[in-house]
Amino acid sequence: YKKLEMFYEGKAKRVYKTVVDQEYIVSYKDDATAFNGEKRGTILNKGEVNNQMSAMIFKLLQELGVENHFIALINEREMLVKAVEIIPLEVIVRNITAGAMAKRLGLEEGIRMKFPVLEFSYKNDQLSDPFINDDYAVALNIASQWEIQCIRNMALKTNEILREFFIEKNILLVDFKLEFGRYENRIILADEISPDTCRLWDATNNEKLDKDRFRRDLGKVEEAYQEVLNRLKA
Ligand code: C5P
Repeated sequence: YKKLEMFYEGKAKRVYKTVVDQEYIVSYKDDATAFNGEKRGTILNKGEVNNQMSAMIFKLLQELGVENHFIALINEREMLVKAVEIIPLEVIVRNITAGAMAKRLGLEEGIRMKFPVLEFSYKNDQLSDPFINDDYAVALNIASQWEIQCIRNMALKTNEILREFFIEKNILLVDFKLEFGRYENRIILADEISPDTCRLWDATNNEKLDKDRFRRDLGKVEEAYQEVLNRLKA
């Protein structure tokens, strides 16, 4: 697994080219940002937790028919993935009210909704990832109608699989963000699935086990990330 030039550096990951055109190496960092980069910090060993948790979940999804970019775990911080062309949409699935939507709608956190709700943001740091809907996405050529339909189906199927997976570990899947990419004329799931990108609450006491501990200065950030990984491995 030889890393060639760096192809992309994001807030939490670096992506490298490899000797094979169709494969990238993703390296997970401990760097943490929130509120679109306004708040910065480090979460010790986050890179290892996010890499290993993402690998575990991508494998499970693959087995259950949700095609994704994961190929293999390389080491504790790195994975080999399929080189997709990322679609600049943040696809958010919500089961329980929290975060930005609770604030926007003046709702308290923790209300279980009648069914999962899908939300899209246009992935653009300069604009702080503005809210967008599927009509705009198609009308502005961000994705085709067919791609949006694939994304919807895959996001909802991922939610069903992960909700069940997490509840077996006594964790509530409140909401999460997915990114999709184009690969050989197909749409596949990409990016990561980790406590950085999911809201995960202990199902017994609703304790937050995710990045909200960092965003809101709740303390025990590292411990929460490690706790999630430990429960998934158990
Ligand atoms: O902030 P908001 O409530 O919209 O976040 C919804 C979900 O999407 C949360 O689980 C959050 O961690 C995730 N998210 C993300 N990256 C972003 C924005 C939100 O992973 N840029």
